[in-house]
Amino acid sequence: MDVSLKCIECGRSFEPGVLYRCSACNGLLDVVPDLDSLRGIVSRDLFDSRLGSTKAPYNSGIWRFRELIHPLVSDRDIVSRPEGNTSLYFHRRVDEYAGIKNLRLKHEGENPTGSFKDRGMSPGVSEARRLGMEVTACASTGNTSASLAAYSSLAGLSSVVFIPEGNIAFGKLSQALAYGARVLQVEGNFDDAMALVQESASELGLYLLNSVNPWRVEGQKSIMFELVQQLGWESPDWVVVPAGNLGNTSAFGKAFLELEELDLIDSIPKIASVQASGADPFFRQWRDGVDVLEAVGEPETIATAIRIGNPVSWRKALRSIRSSGGVVDEVTDQEIMDAKAVIDSSGIGCEPASAASLAGVRKLRDAGVVDRKDSVVCIVTGNILKDPEATVDYHLDRLGDLGISPSYANRPVSIKADLNSVREAIK
Ligand code: F0G
Repeated sequence: MDVSLKCIECGRSFEPGVLYRCSACNGLLDVVPDLDSLRGIVSRDLFDSRLGSTKAPYNSGIWRFRELIHPLVSDRDIVSRPEGNTSLYFHRRVDEYAGIKNLRLKHEGENPTGSFKDRGMSPGVSEARRLGMEVTACASTGNTSASLAAYSSLAGLSSVVFIPEGNIAFGKLSQALAYGARVLQVEGNFDDAMALVQESASELGLYLLNSVNPWRVEGQKSIMFELVQQLGWESPDWVVVPAGNLGNTSAFGKAFLELEELDLIDSIPKIASVQASGADPFFRQWRDGVDVLEAVGEPETIATAIRIGNPVSWRKALRSIRSSGGVVDEVTDQEIMDAKAVIDSSGIGCEPASAASLAGVRKLRDAGVVDRKDSVVCIVTGNILKDPEATVDYHLDRLGDLGISPSYANRPVSIKADLNSVREAIK
């Protein structure tokens, strides 16, 4: 089966190999599957027949769609835990908060290392194996590093992660250390770490697994493949996603174009990409209608996962927003933490960045962009245990310095060790 890498700017094509950008113009690369030859092969029935399989690799919510993710990799090289098969939740409290009648949360925090990153890392590390690479690398606000470390160790490869010193959530740092990555704490922010890892990869022969690597994007398409399959191959009106380095936004638009081209869906959902207001270069670009993204120099948000000022994949993400008829918005840290408290207290739970999607849909509904009767799916990107500090600080009202006051605080109560005190406390 024919697959090539194609520059999204100058259109040059390349054989798949150790290559992340166009050698002529430095543009990002797309994986271009041969959809014509796939037309007679892939179908809703084929993918449905693999649902519920207990056999590798089809027990994975990525590899079930293997022909559309990575047709070159052999069974022997596939590295899978397995990932995907994440739940769709609905809860009245969440619907009421957003003002939407039909809202679902797709919980990517249910992946093996607790975030959607496993969706891209499984094919990415499989590709590293196929190419015979020995050391993988990424820059990360935390989740990518946890995922890279786990999948690399599983594959018997070494990994090096570049993280902004002092600026990643504890759960994520502990995972990277525990899974055995070489952890480099870079003086600077994520954008500095991202620049350094790209230079290091080319100079030191590390296999780069940030979302500039086009196989990461291919894997993350499976979130949308699985979603429409869960909905009986019906598209929702909107898919709302938290946005940082813009890998997911890029992947979702590509997924829908391919599904439509293969007649697997009848319509393309609108994609709403939501940034934190202190780290919002993509929102600004969209709002101002300018052709080139201008970086935010000092990104700031409590949602450390999306504290990114210079997102690598903005061109691909813009293409997704345009081809889906979608929008870009931003939400404040207050809105993020309140939306998180609503998701958490519904028994579902997520890390701060993940709640940008629910906060965003509430704002878009207030603005009349999303209608109360629209069917909406919010992507919840990471597990609640990734950043317990932010959760506890919110409920104990310790975020005043950041201008956040907890609208849904659930304060613990200290009591004496006697029954009367219990009676008083739970009255
Ligand atoms: N939500 C979570 C929990 C994340 O970890 C990230 C990105 C995003 C949303 C944003 O997704 O980059 O596809 O727009 N985390 C990266 C990391 C940057 O290093 O873990 P995006």
